[in-house]
Amino acid sequence: MGFIGQHKRTQGNGNYRIGQVGQQAVVYGWVQSYRDHGGVIFIDLRDRTGFVQLRFEPSHQVEAHKIANMARTEWVLAARGEVIARGDNINPKIPTGEVEILVDEIEILSEALTPPFEIKDGIDTGETTRLKYRYLDLRRPELNRNFVARSKATQITRQYFCGEHDFLELETPILMKSTPEGARDYLVPSRVHPGNFYALPQSPQQFKQLLMVSGMDRYMQICRCFRDEDLRADRQPEFTQIDLEMSFVCAEDIYEILQGYVARVWREMLGVELQLPLPRLTYTEAMDKYGCDKPDLRFDLPLTDLTEILRGRVEFRVFADVLERGGIVKALYLAQGDAFTRKDLDRTFPQEAAPFGAKGVAWARIGANGEWSGPVAKGLTDELRAEVEAKLGTAEGGLILFLADKASVVNASLGRLRLVAAERLGLLDPTKWAFAWVTDFPMFEHDEAENRFVAMHHPFTSPRLDHLDKLDTDPGSVLAQAYDLVVNGVELGGGSIRIHRSDVQKKIFSLIGLSDEEAREKFGFFLDALKYGTPPHGGIALGLDRMMMLITGSDSLRDVIAFPKTQKATCLMSESPNVVDDKQWAELHLLPRRD
Ligand code: AMO
Ligand code: AMP
Repeated sequence: MGFIGQHKRTQGNGNYRIGQVGQQAVVYGWVQSYRDHGGVIFIDLRDRTGFVQLRFEPSHQVEAHKIANMARTEWVLAARGEVIARGDNINPKIPTGEVEILVDEIEILSEALTPPFEIKDGIDTGETTRLKYRYLDLRRPELNRNFVARSKATQITRQYFCGEHDFLELETPILMKSTPEGARDYLVPSRVHPGNFYALPQSPQQFKQLLMVSGMDRYMQICRCFRDEDLRADRQPEFTQIDLEMSFVCAEDIYEILQGYVARVWREMLGVELQLPLPRLTYTEAMDKYGCDKPDLRFDLPLTDLTEILRGRVEFRVFADVLERGGIVKALYLAQGDAFTRKDLDRTFPQEAAPFGAKGVAWARIGANGEWSGPVAKGLTDELRAEVEAKLGTAEGGLILFLADKASVVNASLGRLRLVAAERLGLLDPTKWAFAWVTDFPMFEHDEAENRFVAMHHPFTSPRLDHLDKLDTDPGSVLAQAYDLVVNGVELGGGSIRIHRSDVQKKIFSLIGLSDEEAREKFGFFLDALKYGTPPHGGIALGLDRMMMLITGSDSLRDVIAFPKTQKATCLMSESPNVVDDKQWAELHLLPRRD
């Protein structure tokens, strides 16, 4: 039978406490550390719950002591003995520090090679090695904790939506027809249909809408999505959404259900009470005031538009040129100007803004008696300076950063500098949670390169009903019934009320440049379905990985995904993607590349 068959684990190793002294214990786990104190051997035995100290005394059990003497770190052991108090050697730093287990019997279940890095928190081993040995990295408590938290969060999610709010948990296909979500699809060649491909879902968008047509009323799925896009710290090629759709609802209903959900998650996971309802701001307000549609609202530091004040009056060449060409000038006012050095002004700020297209960052410091210094000082008349001061509410010691360019560059660059300044000023408080709904997104974005409209959210998003007329006259100004849930500068989720009329859906397809034939070919089944009695419906998807990144305080999505991909979309452990042999190419009716 062996040890396992005979002895059932009593409890998790991290759960032993002083109240259990005198009880028999059976423990299993990995050797965290091994110490020989003049004949008495101590082994810290670790499992998912923590570790407990095992004590081996030759005078107590000769055989167990002999076997313990062979064990090395990361070996897997089983042991049985009595829980005893540690007496004088209490370790108040660990939860099991008041007790130890005096071992009667031990068995080595498996030996281990020396791991390439120590299995403990705070190691400085490079991520490449840690990803290659991901299964070892996951043993480390700080990573392990993230997955315990992730599992708890998905349980809360199912309980809240399905247990309490009548959602059905339903699955949708992984092999499907391509959904235009904005990113590139991952394609899977068909063996049975030469030259045909499936796409992996960027999201189950069309299927969840079809489930509404089917009368499922409320759908939820914790689903994997696949997007072949450029990766960043908060983007993975495959990621998980908490995907939701509801029938007979308006945006208000979705806000209500969703904010109840995040309040529940934040309470149960972090003990934080969110104040409901969550604040809202429109897309236009967010862009004007913070230069970005997912503003970090833990602090204010608003941007101020100076275009009207300066137009036709400013002498400073950079501003005057931009204004003549129809651009804008905005300012970021920092009351604590002395927190920023000349090097920040000359280097840090321009370098941070450059990737967003900024050609420079102009500045002015407000000195004693309201004197201005810096490149802008001489380019503004006394009168203009006074107007700018009044508009920004400046005071001695303040610093003004100016950006002039077309609106998109100014907003993105100054929005970035707002975050850089906030970080420097210590305003990114990790214990503060500033949630908000961003509402009233434009329906379309204009793609300048291709000179056509693209759907800003996705093409199934309903325009505001009072804007339907403008689809013909001025599509660029049509607002959508779309919303994002943002927190601390992260887009946690996005969704919309959908189009439920096939005529409106057709019109949107044509406005984004899909001909009738293309629309039929790509979405014929979907347009047809809309003609068979479609309930008004809407939904949202939250990024589960992003949510866990926030909740666990991780810097990267990789810390909350058990087997993540690198920035280059590879798995260093299993070495995917990999080449396949010629036979597989042939079966899929593809020609191998030889270069
Ligand atoms: P959207 O594309 O906004 O909406 O995605 C919803 C949420 O998913 C998360 N997310 C990601 N997380 C990690 N890596 C990525 N590459 C990634 N891309 C997106 C974000 C985002 O807010 N079908 C619609 C939802 C709907 O309309 O109901 C959709 O997928 O947190
Ligand atoms: P220049 O006249 O090119 O020496 O620039 C004077 C100052 O204006 C420098 O501080 C530049 O960083 C800044 N600057 C240049 N282009 C812009 C711009 N588009 N917006 C704001 N400041 C700028």
